[in-house]
Amino acid sequence: MPLFTSSFVRSAAFAFLLLSNLSSAATSPNITAELGPSLSVGARIVFPGSAEFAVATDRDNEQDPPTFSVVVEVATETDVVPYANNKNISFLATTGLHGGTTTLGAVKQGINIRMRKLNSTTIAENGNTATFGVGIISEEVKSSLWAAGKITTTGACDCASSGHFKEQDTTSEWSLLSRARYYDAPAMNWAYSQFIFTHDKVAALYTLLNTWTANGTKEQPIGYINKNVWVRIPPVDANNGVIVFKIFYHGVAAVPNNYTAPLIALGPAVTNRCRNMMFPIGLKTYNVPALVSSTAAFNNLTSDSRFLNSAVLFESCGTQAVKAVADASTAFPHRADNIVITHVISYPVNSTLDKNAIAWGDNFRAALHKADGSSELHTYVNYAHGDETLQELYGYAPWRVTKLKALKSKYDPAGRFDFYAPI
Ligand SMILES: *[C@@H]1O[C@H](CO)[C@@H](O)[C@H](O)[C@H]1NC(C)=O
Ligand SMILES: *[C@@H]1O[C@H](CO)[C@@H](O)[C@H](O)[C@H]1NC(C)=O
Ligand SMILES: *[C@@H]1O[C@H](CO)[C@@H](O)[C@H](O)[C@H]1NC(C)=O
Ligand SMILES: *[C@@H]1O[C@H](CO)[C@@H](O)[C@H](O)[C@H]1NC(C)=O
Ligand SMILES: *[C@@H]1O[C@H](CO)[C@@H](O)[C@H](O)[C@H]1NC(C)=O
Ligand SMILES: *[C@@H]1O[C@H](CO)[C@@H](O)[C@H](O)[C@H]1NC(C)=O
Ligand SMILES: *[C@@H]1O[C@H](CO)[C@@H](O)[C@H](O)[C@H]1NC(C)=O
Repeated sequence: MPLFTSSFVRSAAFAFLLLSNLSSAATSPNITAELGPSLSVGARIVFPGSAEFAVATDRDNEQDPPTFSVVVEVATETDVVPYANNKNISFLATTGLHGGTTTLGAVKQGINIRMRKLNSTTIAENGNTATFGVGIISEEVKSSLWAAGKITTTGACDCASSGHFKEQDTTSEWSLLSRARYYDAPAMNWAYSQFIFTHDKVAALYTLLNTWTANGTKEQPIGYINKNVWVRIPPVDANNGVIVFKIFYHGVAAVPNNYTAPLIALGPAVTNRCRNMMFPIGLKTYNVPALVSSTAAFNNLTSDSRFLNSAVLFESCGTQAVKAVADASTAFPHRADNIVITHVISYPVNSTLDKNAIAWGDNFRAALHKADGSSELHTYVNYAHGDETLQELYGYAPWRVTKLKALKSKYDPAGRFDFYAPI
């Protein structure tokens, strides 16, 4: 929303600029009259001051942005360029609006040729390539290929244009189309590990990375992606930047040990080998004063870097269909609740911290329960911590637990299914 607002203000400012430059506006071409008739069906001219203009010019990066007097949303390749050339008006063709280089600022009161409508996907008959319209964005590339059981490499940002992955060949070099190699969708599982290192580990860390490529002489495996960011995270280091280090690895259940073991040996400040203790509570409404008090405690907990990744989940779904089912007709006991709030106390695996974590979780949950005033504590079984009573998990009406126990002993007389909140 702030981006939208600033770009709206900016386009309003352009409109004002145009008005205040009447002499140049008077000599500027009447684009509606002159260009309008030659545009194809589906193309549109959009002027400053409209919400559509704001959306079409809202760049991701405000370094030296281009300025536009008009947006022409094209529907074919040849719509605008001959006109702009003829009138000597500069133009910029745009799709994802992510570019930020300073040369863009040379476009002053030009035409923004918006290409988003050229977002076609055509999969070749040989099954090995696809051709995309130049207005396509990553998310559309992924979803249109996925619909055909195909994938390709794309950037991580769904709203960026697709330039990142295009492998143009000579026949398409000058066309507003890009061609990508694509592949039958293989196994989709990605393993992921994250470590946060303090700044004093920079030398050791990047020396290690160089050993993985034998100083740039050996390629990494195809499924390997490493992404690091240097940022400030005050709870980890109040005075210096830290390195957030991520490895993604395709097609395996866990990032291979030959990557994680040496990283752990370097001594990360925070790892993703975490214990996540959950403390759920089902409620009808948000008790606002209790939540306000919880925020101070939550800030307190997460100011300790070991508990930095802790979280509170607030989940609420439409419950009309839940409530339409007769309460006594199924095993699910919490049909009257509307919200599940779950405290997730997260910390690096270290058993000396377990009792602190349990104390935090119990206190958070008890505070919400007390504020709610109900004599019953409702806990969502799939998130349960493990020490909840059968009534808290499966309902307080005595017949429920009695009936569930009878069913359990009928279908599992030997107690073989006893490891997940057993009854
Ligand atoms: C531009 O052309 C349109 C259509 O012919 C006309 O309605 C409009 O008044 C013109 N505007 C200017 C500023 O000449
Ligand atoms: C076209 O516009 C540019 C920049 O405004 C200007 O330098 C150039 O002289 C113009 N060319 C013609 C043929 O008008
Ligand atoms: C192209 O854009 C239109 C309008 O946003 C959208 O409805 C359509 O699904 C997009 N096409 C693809 C292939 O994603
Ligand atoms: C790590 O092991 C995998 C096989 O599991 C291998 O493909 C990869 O090259 C190894 N990487 C390094 C840095 O030793
Ligand atoms: C990589 O470069 C470092 C620093 O120059 C050097 O110590 C090391 O021997 C090199 N390793 C390989 C495998 O080339
Ligand atoms: C925050 O933690 C400190 C130290 O553990 C404690 O003294 C203080 O009472 C806590 N505040 C809250 C709101 O939990
Ligand atoms: C576990 O936590 C304790 C208490 O904070 C700390 O002293 C100890 O170094 C930690 N152990 C590991 C392996 O990080």
